[in-house]
Amino acid sequence: MGLFSKAGFGVFAIIAALFNLSGQALAQDADAGEKSFRVYCGYCHHPPRFDSNGIGPNLKGVVGRRAASYPNFNYSSALTSAGLTWNEATLDAWLARPQAVVSGTKMAFTGIRNAAERANIIAFLKNNP
Ligand code: HEC
Repeated sequence: MGLFSKAGFGVFAIIAALFNLSGQALAQDADAGEKSFRVYCGYCHHPPRFDSNGIGPNLKGVVGRRAASYPNFNYSSALTSAGLTWNEATLDAWLARPQAVVSGTKMAFTGIRNAAERANIIAFLKNNP
């Protein structure tokens, strides 16, 4: 009996831990990310839903996409030959300091210092598969 309730508590603790982890993931705020996207990125990147390129390539489905793979955009050779795939980690580093990830990229953007703001923008991009 005592053993069972201990095991039960262990399972509960694991479930609670998992729940907490997913709660943290949800703490990324895609709506706030969309606002930041408009402020920081919108001048060069069309909203993903428009499917079109601006000064920068369209970012539709960018999370999980191979770098420099959006059709009909004239990427720099630096980004084309970087061999990167965009995921949360590579995007986070890129948005913090593009030139540090791909030296010679033509994305003329210094970066965003605030990690939470970067996470929100990535959450917004993930919501636009
Ligand atoms: C001044 C214009 C400009 C701004 C501002 C800008 N970008 Fe870019 N972005 C570009 C250009 C140009 C490229 C292509 C870079 C290359 O070919 O080296 C690019 C490339 C990218 C890529 C790689 C896309 C791919 O298909 O591999 C991502 C991701 C990206 N930008 C995200 C963002 C986000 C998010 C913001 C806002 C926080 C932002 N950019 C702000 C111009 C800009």
